[in-house]
Amino acid sequence: MTNLRSMFREISNRYDLLNHIITFGFDIVWRRLVANRIILRGVILDLCCGAGELISLLSRDVDSKSFLVGLDFTEDMLKRAQRRRETKEGKAHKRIDFVLADAKRLPFKDSSIDCICMSFSFRNLTFKNTEASTYIEEILRVLKAKGRFIFIETGQPQSRFVRRILHIYLERIMPMIGGAISGCKGAYRYLSTSVINFPQANKIGNLLKEAGFLKVSIKPVTLGVVTLFECSK
Ligand SMILES: C[S@@+](CC[C@H](N)C(=O)[O-])C[C@H]1O[C@@H](n2cnc3c(N)ncnc32)[C@H](O)[C@@H]1O
Repeated sequence: MTNLRSMFREISNRYDLLNHIITFGFDIVWRRLVANRIILRGVILDLCCGAGELISLLSRDVDSKSFLVGLDFTEDMLKRAQRRRETKEGKAHKRIDFVLADAKRLPFKDSSIDCICMSFSFRNLTFKNTEASTYIEEILRVLKAKGRFIFIETGQPQSRFVRRILHIYLERIMPMIGGAISGCKGAYRYLSTSVINFPQANKIGNLLKEAGFLKVSIKPVTLGVVTLFECSK
């Protein structure tokens, strides 16, 4: 399998900028949809937080009722996220912390997290990943009873026409732009292949239910180009 960590290290410099370019800015709207579904109460974990775009949206409203944790296994990504945590006064935000760790072994106690959120990383944890079930088990282990797992991921549009256009873009155009700007063609080829071949949302829903989530709601967004999942333990 592609070495994901070194791939993300290579593209970390231009990661945010490229996301905005290749999604025509839609990634900002999509992360906001996740942020809007999160109740800021208790401990909230942004799993595979990358350069911290989602957690920085949440940080605007964090107060004494909640504590935010961002976790990622790529140090360069996490450093960028940490820099975002700095407040205008030059201090680090006291109710946000970052952890360098692999999602395979989350450094948290059983039933200690109120909500886990994730943007565009579920695919990395599950696509052609032999440890997919370990990641889902870990998420379930650290979530409190009735805790929520909310994430957004690339989808497969129902309309054949839209799907075809999307796949042409992903196969022929996006890797060229991504490769030219980041200098790492492989990363954007991986993105293209994993998005095109990622299972339909209902299959992912079944996987999550089989793993032990009690409720799974699935909402296609932007003609099904992405899907918002909300699961409860
Ligand atoms: C596609 S990026 C998404 C980043 C961010 N959530 C966003 O919305 O931009 C995937 C991130 O997941 C991280 N990642 C992938 N596999 C991981 C794992 N097993 N444990 C921790 N982080 C992981 C990568 O380092 C990368 O930062």
